[in-house]
Amino acid sequence: MGTKLWHPFADMSAVQGNELVIASGEGAYVTDEAGRRYLDATAGLWYCNIGHGRRELADAAAAQIGKIAAYSTFGNFATRPTLDLAERIAELAPMDDAVVFFTSGGSDSVDTAVKIVQRYWSLQGKPNKNLIFTRNKAYHGMHMAGTSLAGIEANRTGFTSLLDSVVRVAWDDADDLISELDRLGPDRVAAFFCEPIIGAGGVFAPPPGYLEKVRSACRERGVLFVADEVISGYGRTGHWFASDRWELDPDLILSAKGLTSGYLPMGAVLVSGAVAEPFWSRGGVFRHGYTYSGHATAAAVALANLDVLAREKLVQRVLDLEPVLAMALRPLMGSELVVEVRAGVGLLAAVQLAPEAVAADVTLAPRVLAGLRERGVLTRLLADTSIQVSPAFVVTASDIALLATAIAETLAELGSPVAIPVNIGDVDLLPEQTRDDTEAGWGSNVAATDEWYQANRPPHHRD
Ligand SMILES: Cc1ncc(COP(=O)(O)O)c(C=O)c1O
Repeated sequence: MGTKLWHPFADMSAVQGNELVIASGEGAYVTDEAGRRYLDATAGLWYCNIGHGRRELADAAAAQIGKIAAYSTFGNFATRPTLDLAERIAELAPMDDAVVFFTSGGSDSVDTAVKIVQRYWSLQGKPNKNLIFTRNKAYHGMHMAGTSLAGIEANRTGFTSLLDSVVRVAWDDADDLISELDRLGPDRVAAFFCEPIIGAGGVFAPPPGYLEKVRSACRERGVLFVADEVISGYGRTGHWFASDRWELDPDLILSAKGLTSGYLPMGAVLVSGAVAEPFWSRGGVFRHGYTYSGHATAAAVALANLDVLAREKLVQRVLDLEPVLAMALRPLMGSELVVEVRAGVGLLAAVQLAPEAVAADVTLAPRVLAGLRERGVLTRLLADTSIQVSPAFVVTASDIALLATAIAETLAELGSPVAIPVNIGDVDLLPEQTRDDTEAGWGSNVAATDEWYQANRPPHHRD
């Protein structure tokens, strides 16, 4: 009997009869309908920052539904949790006088931002300043605007009426962006959309100095800087926002996922006071919004989620675990099936399978995933056939050891023996293991080395 569920990002001919039905979750683990428990190496789709199964969030949702589940926020309507959440996010936002436009998820946030920046320039009397810059490897969701912005080529091929106001530049070369900006001229370019650390494209951290350079190039030329923090927002890089980590001072921040840890769907666009000003003072009606913008129950859940992140110091925990994850994955570089291990920014990592090996044997990638699943680890492959690693923030050092060992054993089984990672299960999360990262640099093909960690220890952890 076939399924009636049309799965997203799926080849339905392969999915039929092969569904894995997840029934419950607790912390960094999930359990399927057959009762098998897995380490959820991806935290769902990069969203479950606080971990699964929190009663506190269920209670927050139930309490709000008991009062009123949702009400419109169009015009001057509001609900209390929506107002409170906007206040709370505005306080966290690393930008001056931020205001918050709520959406139903990340792709909505991207669409909303494209409309805000284009309208912003129209209100400034510059309607032709409408080009949007984006990077190769970028993922900005799957609405029509986000698909148009896609830097992962496969995600935009085959769609015939995408936005034609998009310019793509190299993901890692600030000079490429600068020369395109100068070629087209500041009167044409509205904004640069940028994931501070590329996620779905394969987990690529910015090369040293890249973000600083593109940020000031945009500022000098009057181009708005839009940080897409749908993955990195709410703690994933060990800071509330990646914009804090790299001191980006963005004009807009796009968020979703970690805002509610995925307990309910919700997104938010954080807009600096300067960009909001013309809308709030003289813009008239901004004809944009979604039925569920600021949904009361989602907002109540988001507030509870932010409470947990703060109370349990989970954002700091991500920073403490950052070197633990990088060191655990490093030995995997020894496998000839692996071309690169990328880690060293928060709880985000990727183990990229060698493209030639994947091309030579189409069964390789699925067998890697199956091998991991047999060993109790659930993950998926990113656009460049990297194994995604982005666990919940409550993951422990021994969970991380289990994950690295499962990958090592799977690669060994597939014919490429690799040293089993040392047992890091007993590593204490001492402050000495955190590091400052404003100069986050990535080594040749291994993200971080011991010397690098020593050299980059934050001042308050130096002897
Ligand atoms: C950077 C980025 N932007 C936007 C999106 C789209 O978010 P959603 O899938 O919630 O629409 C994603 C989703 O993974 C993302 O990673």
